[in-house]
Amino acid sequence: MTTQNGIKRYSPSDRANHVLVAVLFILAAVSGLALFHPSMFFLTAVLGGGELSRVLHPFVGVASFVFFLGMFLRFWHHNLVDKNDQQWMCQMGDVLNGREEKLPEVGRYNAGQKMFFWLMAIALVVLLLTGITFWRPYFVDYFSLDVRRAAVLIHALAAWIIILGLIVHIYAAIWVKGSLGAMRTGYVSKAWARRHHPAWYREVTGGNK
Ligand code: HEM
Repeated sequence: MTTQNGIKRYSPSDRANHVLVAVLFILAAVSGLALFHPSMFFLTAVLGGGELSRVLHPFVGVASFVFFLGMFLRFWHHNLVDKNDQQWMCQMGDVLNGREEKLPEVGRYNAGQKMFFWLMAIALVVLLLTGITFWRPYFVDYFSLDVRRAAVLIHALAAWIIILGLIVHIYAAIWVKGSLGAMRTGYVSKAWARRHHPAWYREVTGGNK
C-alpha cells in the first residue's frame, strides 16, 4: 500500500512481533552465553544472577521460539527462494559494493534476508528440540546420557550459528539506510523500495517502473 508516508512494509502487529522476538532472543542468547563458558558468567547479571539465569534461560528460549513461529507464519511465503536469488548470491561482489543495478531484480526480500530467515527457523527448531533433552528437572529423565551429551553439543553449535546470523542481520539493518525505519515506522520511502527491492516496488505500485 502506498501512502503519503511512503510504502507500507510492516503492520503494527508485524513490528510488535519482531520487537518481542528480538528482545526475547537477545535475553536467551545472553543468558545462554553466560552458561556456556565461565568467562561470560558475568552476563548472568542480565537475568538476575546465576540461579535465575539457569531457571529462566529455557523458558525465555521457548518464548522466543513461540514468537518466532508467529513471524514465520507471517513471512514464510515472502522468503521462498527463486532463480534470481541464486544469481544474487553469485554476485556477492556487486552486493557488497552497492552495485544494485547489476543484480537481478530483488523482490520483497533479497537472497541474504531469505537465508537469514530459514537459518533462524531451522536453528530455532534445533535449539528447542535439543534443549528439551537436558531441561532439568522436567524432561531430563526421558533421555539417555548419550543423547543428552550429543544434544548439548548441537545446542551450542546451533546457538553460535544463530548468534552470528543475528550479528549479520543487525549489521545489514544498519548498513542499508532506511531499513531500520521500516521496522520503526512500518513505512519505507519509494526511493528505498525502488533501489533495494525493485520487483516488490513494482508489485505494490501496480507496475510503475
Ligand atoms: C536488535 C535486533 C534486531 C534488529 C535491529 C533488527 C532489524 C530488522 C529490520 C530493520 C528488519 C526489516 C528489514 C526489511 O524489511 O528489509 C528486520 C526484519 C526481520 N527480522 Fe530483525 N532485527 C533484530 C532482531 C531479530 C531477531 C532476533 C530475529 C529472529 C530471530 C529477527 C528476524 C527478522 C525477520 C524474520 C525479518 C523479516 C525478514 C525476512 O523475513 O527475511 N530480527 N529486522
